[in-house]
Amino acid sequence: SKKMQITLTVNGTRHELLAEPRELLIHVLRERLNITGPHIGCETSHCGACTVIMGDRSIKSCTVFAAQADGASITTIEGLGSPDALHPLQEAFREHHGLQCGFCTPGMITRAAQLLKENPDPTEEEVRFGMAGNLCRCTGYQNIVKSVLAAAATLNSSKEAAE
Ligand code: FES
Ligand code: FES
Repeated sequence: SKKMQITLTVNGTRHELLAEPRELLIHVLRERLNITGPHIGCETSHCGACTVIMGDRSIKSCTVFAAQADGASITTIEGLGSPDALHPLQEAFREHHGLQCGFCTPGMITRAAQLLKENPDPTEEEVRFGMAGNLCRCTGYQNIVKSVLAAAATLNSSKEAAE
């Protein structure tokens, strides 16, 4: 099969690479670019562990061919925060026990970041609905919802402070 030359900008860094026509974006991120925050849970679009932000949407990167992402700008959990400078969502998940094993967390936080961009002041129901594509085996979701709402409050109060 003929490889395709593609360009991906991931967390602000531009990469040019040759992709197989059927190569999935999650595999390019993890195996070729060594960006291992997005996890592989199901590989069949159910769990959301592989969630990344592409352009202005969050997507499940196991559902997208790398070739379809050609030219796109992608943000993974690594681009949202780092151990030294946690994103408010990461702080909130830590503080409100939004994670246990942590497997789902990069996808959860990446999805939540996009959700709060689209809806900065969501109700609990809107958070539950907006996060419904991301599965967690451990937490029972209550603390995830709490964490997202807490991060929204933090982000909104720092926005007010900046005004
Ligand atoms: Fe992509 Fe589960 S690994 S949705
Ligand atoms: Fe274990 Fe969510 S914390 S799957």
